[in-house]
Amino acid sequence: MKHIKIQDKTFRTYIEEKVLLEQIKATAQRINTDFKGQKPVFLCTLKGAFMFLADLLKEIDLDCEVSFTRLSSYDGTQTTGKVKPIIGINDNLKGRRVIIIEDIVENGFTIKKLYEELPKHQPESIDVCTMFFKPKAYKLDFDIKYHVVSIDNEFIVGHGLDYNELGRNLKDIYIIEE
Ligand code: IMP
Ligand code: MG
Repeated sequence: MKHIKIQDKTFRTYIEEKVLLEQIKATAQRINTDFKGQKPVFLCTLKGAFMFLADLLKEIDLDCEVSFTRLSSYDGTQTTGKVKPIIGINDNLKGRRVIIIEDIVENGFTIKKLYEELPKHQPESIDVCTMFFKPKAYKLDFDIKYHVVSIDNEFIVGHGLDYNELGRNLKDIYIIEE
């Protein structure tokens, strides 16, 4: 087990990249089957989902497009509950099947905000695909169709996920030590 320090917090290895990539591939294969013959748009929520999007898309064999949006709700290891749109939705999503790509779904505030915004763009359908899911924290009814890994209410970093903007470059996933 490896320990790392980011600012005032200590983290230990939790999921190795190799294991994570295998599970991302399995999720990609489900999407390939479910969207066969279609041309979905993967709407990546920045910043955290950039690495997941890259790994997932390498395993997608559909004709597909990519779009980006940026929302922010977190401060340190706590959500603020207020989701701020920082980069809006700029591509034409009218009539398109949109798959939201998230790094992690916790309370679901980010997903809720997107479900409020997206209908204005008249997509044909909206689905969610997240790398991590905290089911014990999730408070909403919107279906999270695809999640790669389900975890308890613990704070993790790596593979795009940050603590105060640090740790996004880590290949493996690390969990906070109390
Ligand atoms: P939600 O809006 O409450 O679902 O929280 C989702 C957002 O909070 C994610 O996109 C992350 O930016 C952040 N977040 C939630 N849990 C973690 C975590 O364990 N590590 C790093 N960021 C997290
Ligand atoms: Mg995020």
